[in-house]
Amino acid sequence: MSDSRKALVTGGAGFIGSHLVDRLLSEGYKVAVIDDLSAGKLRNLNPAATFYHSDITQTSVQDIFNREQPDLVFHLAARVSVTYSTENPVDNAEVNVIGTLRLLDAARQKGIDKFIFSSTGGAIYGNPESNPCSEETPVAPTSPYGLSKYMAEQYIELFHRLYRLNYTTLRYGNVYGPRQDPHGEAGVIAIFIQTMLEGRQPLIFGDGDQERDFIYVADVVEANMRAIDRGNHRTVNIGSGEGSSVNHIFQSIKEALQYRWEAERRPHRPGEVHKIALDCAKSLRDLGWSSQVGLEEGLQRTVEYFREINQSGEPSASRPASGRSA
Ligand SMILES: NC(=O)c1ccc[n+]([C@@H]2O[C@H](COP(=O)([O-])OP(=O)(O)OC[C@H]3O[C@@H](n4cnc5c(N)ncnc54)[C@H](O)[C@@H]3O)[C@@H](O)[C@H]2O)c1
Repeated sequence: MSDSRKALVTGGAGFIGSHLVDRLLSEGYKVAVIDDLSAGKLRNLNPAATFYHSDITQTSVQDIFNREQPDLVFHLAARVSVTYSTENPVDNAEVNVIGTLRLLDAARQKGIDKFIFSSTGGAIYGNPESNPCSEETPVAPTSPYGLSKYMAEQYIELFHRLYRLNYTTLRYGNVYGPRQDPHGEAGVIAIFIQTMLEGRQPLIFGDGDQERDFIYVADVVEANMRAIDRGNHRTVNIGSGEGSSVNHIFQSIKEALQYRWEAERRPHRPGEVHKIALDCAKSLRDLGWSSQVGLEEGLQRTVEYFREINQSGEPSASRPASGRSA
């Protein structure tokens, strides 16, 4: 249980952030959230959190730090789509790099206990010579998104060297689970499930043999919780350790939903990596963390969630959340 420490979660109305907010609150933390709702949804946000409808690239970030005095910062707000980043590299960098820098600057001025950063393992190593990739694998992003996350990581390390800012950077594989947006460009599992439930035909880009390291959202939340008191000044992969192909995911969901049609094939999208899997030995050593929810179980839970919300007609449990602008 916590000692009532205050956590500031950026991107707390988003997919992963909203689950993290729920967990922090359930463990007794006070939680404040910054989200501009560009992708996040108020209905995902736990009403017990103090909500700032605000943009991390703006100077109002400093006011929020002054008012909330957070002990911990979990930084998840980002432009998350690889495809979007290849078409809008400047906007991608403004949010993912400059937004991070603004938070870091406010964090070092306030002297917080820890900055826990959501980075990417899926988009930072590019197309590696061999899999699984450890944290020692050379960084070689193939998209502005991957590069922007790496630049944010580098600023965090620099702030540690310059100002002794404490941090852990978590490099996630492909995260999936309840509340993932099925209408975005990222999140193949949510997109496949929702498309099949609506009786439409899913799209597969490229040959479908591309492999991703899929990791269930509760495992990712657990990694963030472990990083509160462990893994200081460390960057660690957070994944299952295994690659699964998009074709395999399609078949598994197809069987679970007894869907009858095949996928429509489209050309490979620029910026996407071919095969990636993450070696997570370091996260076991540094955080005592390893993935607990296997792919089949995670898929089943996710299919059940989407089935339920489709049947109820609700996108997810609708809950009011009080909002402040800053
Ligand atoms: N989902 C994945 O597979 C995955 C994999 C690796 C890393 N990550 C990282 O995890 C984090 C969370 O991703 P997610 O999948 O929950 O995505 P998401 O889009 O659901 O969440 C991101 C949140 O950030 C908010 N946001 C975006 N720009 C903002 C801005 N300028 N100011 C304030 N809020 C802003 C959005 O409204 C959204 O609620 C991101 O940093 C992402 O890069 C995700």
